[in-house]
Amino acid sequence: MKRGTTVYLYELAWILPSIAIPVGMLAALLVTAFGAGIHVPTIAGRVNPAKVSETPPFDTPGVVQTGPLSYEVRVVAQVWSFTPNEIHVPVGSTVTFVATSRDVIHGFFIPGANVNVMLIPGQVSRVTTRFDHVGEFFVACHEYCGIAHHTMSGKVLVEPRS
Ligand code: CUA
Repeated sequence: MKRGTTVYLYELAWILPSIAIPVGMLAALLVTAFGAGIHVPTIAGRVNPAKVSETPPFDTPGVVQTGPLSYEVRVVAQVWSFTPNEIHVPVGSTVTFVATSRDVIHGFFIPGANVNVMLIPGQVSRVTTRFDHVGEFFVACHEYCGIAHHTMSGKVLVEPRS
């Protein structure tokens, strides 16, 4: 083999993976975004953190029915609790959490329910999920927010339909 050809093959051995890797990553991104429906939660607006308790919808935290088996849950986070702390919805519900923080950055994480958002003062977070099984879901603050961060939790109780 001529020397020139060998160099060309080595170049090719580097160039092909350097094309294949980003193409593979892009394909994985497209599959997860459009196929599996995994996406970054929407920034759903802004709110003055000093006036959270006077600003709709956070002036009435809690569960609001928005349709048949469709609920909106307005959540306000503060050191070191969520309001409401306990959320009740019937099984099969599609639930949109609309949440913010009135002081520091908190997290809103429901393991097993595809809910994982940051609650940033001044920003409204919105995330929608469906609860298909009766049971109790743990809600955790998963952003360090001070000395009692580890105690900051809540629960979602998915109840049988009456
Ligand atoms: Cu709130 Cu950690």
